[in-house]
Amino acid sequence: MNTDELFHQHFGADDEAFSLRSPGRVNLIGEHIDYNDGFVLPIAVPLEVHLKVRPRADRRVELYAAEFDERLSFSLDNLRHQNTWIDYVQGVARELAGASVPLHGFEGVVTSGVPVASGLSSSAAIEVAAALAFTHLAQQPMAAVDIAKLCQKAENNFVGVNCGIMDQMAVAACRADHALLLDCRDFSTRQVPFRLKNHALIVTDSAAPRTLAGSAYNERRAQCEAGLAYLQTKLPHIVSLRDVTPAELTEHGTGLDPVVRKRVQHVVDEIARTIYACEELEKENLAVFGQCMNASHESLAQLYEVSSPELDWLTDWARQQPGVLGSRLTGAGFGGCTVTLIENSGVDAFLAGLPPAYKAALNRDARCWVCTAVDGAQVL
Ligand code: GLA
Repeated sequence: MNTDELFHQHFGADDEAFSLRSPGRVNLIGEHIDYNDGFVLPIAVPLEVHLKVRPRADRRVELYAAEFDERLSFSLDNLRHQNTWIDYVQGVARELAGASVPLHGFEGVVTSGVPVASGLSSSAAIEVAAALAFTHLAQQPMAAVDIAKLCQKAENNFVGVNCGIMDQMAVAACRADHALLLDCRDFSTRQVPFRLKNHALIVTDSAAPRTLAGSAYNERRAQCEAGLAYLQTKLPHIVSLRDVTPAELTEHGTGLDPVVRKRVQHVVDEIARTIYACEELEKENLAVFGQCMNASHESLAQLYEVSSPELDWLTDWARQQPGVLGSRLTGAGFGGCTVTLIENSGVDAFLAGLPPAYKAALNRDARCWVCTAVDGAQVL
């Protein structure tokens, strides 16, 4: 059943209802550098959360989530953790209230085409959808960047995940046929044309559990902070690892703890690589862009150590296929998805060949999507 039919079934007439869509995202390049003031280059993908809601007279929010066949609710006057998907909505409500946005109750249906726990930002998609619903009802539209910051705070403060700004910003601010070059220091953005003619982008879900994702993610962040603190003793002007040049790291990095040194090397290299890759993308030099994707993966695997046997296998396999320009893990790592840039002529064989080969090698069921860049979240 689609969202309209489900709404009808669970909530009846839809006279005052409105709908909105909120996509997942993949990052093309620029990984684990959003929390180091770096640059990221995500696109919004056509795997989307859909929300259809109508206002309520009271201050309750009640939602039926089709994916879990579960109807949950909360009072806007009593936000308490339920340790489930509705916490994303509650977290957004709390941040909006803190920003003095008048909150109104609503009820409706949420359906999701963004696979959960696959690293495609299903949580950011729900958060941004909720923020749009609340601000639409309050008749107080907010700029995409403010929505993204608010949703990041909801995730940090209420959900308790210490994520950077990339996911919420991608979901809120991406444009169709464009990648979003985001400067995570000042939140300035550039829409970079990403309309592939002779090539395609394939997103592959490794279907491997991301059990380490939370704890190891926080550990990586702490290692970056430790590296920054040390380097600041040598380079007092630096505010973040963004300010460290490769030459400065070579000169001053010897005193770093060896593991921290590797993490910082990734960050410094990946920031430079992302700027370079983006310039090449703008020149439509996809071959070089693909090489940058490969180099990014190697760095994430060897220096940042956030890959996994599955992600390494998928990217290795991809690079051996006809027409592939580059392949890398995307998102936090430890499972989740890869992105592969490939000539159109190779797509069918890739899609047919990957699942059985992966199954035979690692006994898991991969899923692939050919993804174009779609618009960020919007009220329809
Ligand atoms: C997760 C986080 C983002 C970002 C990526 C890694 O998706 O939510 O903020 O740090 O990992 O690039």
